[in-house]
Amino acid sequence: MFTKEFYVNHRATLKKLMNKGIAVFIANDEASMNYPDNTYHYRQDSNFAYFFGLNHSDLVGVIDFESGEEILFGQEVTIDDVIWCGPLPSLPEQGDMIGITDCRDINRFPEYIRQQMEKGRMIHLTPTYRGDQTIKIANYMDIDVHEVKNYVSQLLIEAIVSLREIKSDIEIKEMEYAADTAYYMHTTAMKMCKPGVIEQEISGTIEGIAIARGGTISFPNIVSMDGQTLHNHNHGNVLKEGRMMVCDCGAETGNYLDSDFTRTTPVGGKFNSRQRDVYEIVLKANMEVAKQTKPGMRYMEMHKLAARTLIEGLQGIGLMKGNVDDALAAGAHYLFQPHGLGHMLGMDVHDMEGLGEINVGYNKETPRSTQQGFSCLRCGKVLKPGFVVTDEPGIYFIPTLIDIWKAEGKHKDFINYDKLETFKDFGGIRIEDDLLITENGNRILGKPIPKTVEDVERTCAEAREWIRIPGIF
Ligand code: GLY
Ligand code: MN
Repeated sequence: MFTKEFYVNHRATLKKLMNKGIAVFIANDEASMNYPDNTYHYRQDSNFAYFFGLNHSDLVGVIDFESGEEILFGQEVTIDDVIWCGPLPSLPEQGDMIGITDCRDINRFPEYIRQQMEKGRMIHLTPTYRGDQTIKIANYMDIDVHEVKNYVSQLLIEAIVSLREIKSDIEIKEMEYAADTAYYMHTTAMKMCKPGVIEQEISGTIEGIAIARGGTISFPNIVSMDGQTLHNHNHGNVLKEGRMMVCDCGAETGNYLDSDFTRTTPVGGKFNSRQRDVYEIVLKANMEVAKQTKPGMRYMEMHKLAARTLIEGLQGIGLMKGNVDDALAAGAHYLFQPHGLGHMLGMDVHDMEGLGEINVGYNKETPRSTQQGFSCLRCGKVLKPGFVVTDEPGIYFIPTLIDIWKAEGKHKDFINYDKLETFKDFGGIRIEDDLLITENGNRILGKPIPKTVEDVERTCAEAREWIRIPGIF
């Protein structure tokens, strides 16, 4: 956990932004995998973690915006807890860790919240994203589960987004650590990327690095030779010479701050000329965005810059044609990059999307585009110092999508479908960095992960033999 000031300050700032009603933050419960006591890795709710810090279940945090009261509802430690989990801080000690003196038994929470409701107080909830939590809140409030959404507060959502989107120095330091972990994960993956290795060997090894550095992965690893499948969580391919491996992974620290980087490595460590041609286009898009991103601009402008760079590059190798402005305006690049340039990053890998992606990436001054090629961008709004966003252009050759567009003759003035046929076995390339928006520009978080052709090839060449687990593969 961070020091108590971290949490005290967040609640104090939230109170300045909100003036009526009560905000209720429910800690995530343990989630069972296959029988009650065998649970998934515990993950606290990010809003709870941001305002109340404690890293376990059966807690409710309350902030009263009118009286200024802050209450922590929780459970006293039992002897069973001590026997199974060791000595634990008492409830008042937990309150002290986050600067709250009013600590009450969680069994008193239903009575408390129902009284507030009877008094006609405004109750502000964040959206729920787990069924068990929705049921729990409904039971606490004595309402039907379908009514819980009626208490989700747009005012609270907007206030939280305005706080969490600006990363403090403490958070940035922690994100640097998560980014450094990603450096070790990615350079290890590059060194392991050899013919005959199974993707799962790499995925398992790099997940271990994230855990060994005191946290875990920030989302399930994407480690695949089939990079054209954007979120490919199958890790069963045996790596083959002549293919490339997309590795999209990141780390989450014990305080829930994340990294998210992608690198694409040729199996065996040397790009062939066709791979190199496409790789250089994606790299140029990634680097142009990193060069030009600065506060005050809409990230949609950078999405367009990346798309334009991809179109120009694809024209250079004969896969696209026609007027670049017209191709961009038509959204023809979507065939090659059917996702947005990036998203916010922080306590969630797609930061705050539990509050609704639209509430995080867009606002009244920047509404979301409805056009193909632009609507897929998760965060298009004006950038401010302290934001962290990902810069992750890609080029993918998705045979099914190519077939559909070709059959429809879609954007045929901009796409050279005949030549594209010869790329259907190519896979995909994505290159992703995490950009901290600074006062004048941006900087990439963490130790620089190799990304030029020369640096990737050099890193692959540094590979030494590692011990493959005998008898398993
Ligand atoms: N890196 C995974 C994602 O951005 O969705
Ligand atoms: Mn990402």
